Amino acid sequence: MTLPRIPLAAVIGAPVAHSRSPRLFHHWLGKYGLKGHYIPMEIAPDRLESALRMLPDLGFVGANVTIPYKEDVMRIADLVSDRATVIGAANTLIFREDGKIHADNTDGYGFMENLRRGAPDWDPSTKPVVVLGAGGAARAVIASLLDVGVTELRLTNRTRDRAEQLCEEFGNRVQVYDWVQAGNILEDAGAVINTTSLGMAGKPELRVPLGGLQPGTVVNDIVYTPLKTPLLAEAEHRGCTVVDGLGMLLYQAVPGFERWFGQRPEVDEATRQAVLA
Ligand code: ATR
Repeated sequence: MTLPRIPLAAVIGAPVAHSRSPRLFHHWLGKYGLKGHYIPMEIAPDRLESALRMLPDLGFVGANVTIPYKEDVMRIADLVSDRATVIGAANTLIFREDGKIHADNTDGYGFMENLRRGAPDWDPSTKPVVVLGAGGAARAVIASLLDVGVTELRLTNRTRDRAEQLCEEFGNRVQVYDWVQAGNILEDAGAVINTTSLGMAGKPELRVPLGGLQPGTVVNDIVYTPLKTPLLAEAEHRGCTVVDGLGMLLYQAVPGFERWFGQRPEVDEATRQAVLA
């Protein structure tokens, strides 16, 4: 008699020691009493493809992907989901039983789920949404904002060309503004999202003037170290509805966990504490 294999999954990156995903997955595996393991796996760039091809034979059912491989895995995968194609990067790989590698992107899902739960009264279609930053993280954020029906998305980035490029790709609901205008365009916004790394521990401050923020505006930072960034602290002081960035990390992991270990995990306060510990 052959025993069923214990499902294995990994987070793949270089470096990967900083990843909080193993803590998150261990918490859920323990909570639901599931058999399975989730490990950080650092892979050298020239070994990425051969390592990925080997993992299914070793019992791996999937992997999360982090910096710097989110784009590289798109070229290696046999199938790519529509949302990963739109974003141009993948964070979740599924090793199918037929041996094919399926690349998906759940960052946009994680972002929106976090925003919806943190600001349940936010209506995407009534007021403009301001997105600060046009890097890799902004792509997932913009795609999911347009997906839920945002009608006017104001995009601003230090390097204007990068914002123009996204505007070209995502269409005319996206309007580009100069970085120096950031403080003005948030005055009548319904939501403001920071996708830059500014405000993160060890990075420069976000210097956008916040005097125009109105009470009730939803302000979300995808930075979660610290949990309450200076942007969120100022927004809270001004009566905004603030949503921190940790939930994006937690919710983006939900589809992979469910797929690999057969249980849809719940994101609750204990989950947050497990990852912060
Ligand atoms: P990621 O893929 O994680 O989003 P990224 O592509 O390097 O990382 O993007 C980081 C974002 O933070 C970009 O919008 C970047 O602006 P530029 O496109 O002009 O580089 C923004 N950013 C980083 N440091 C900044 C700074 N000192 N001032 C303003 N924006 C900054």
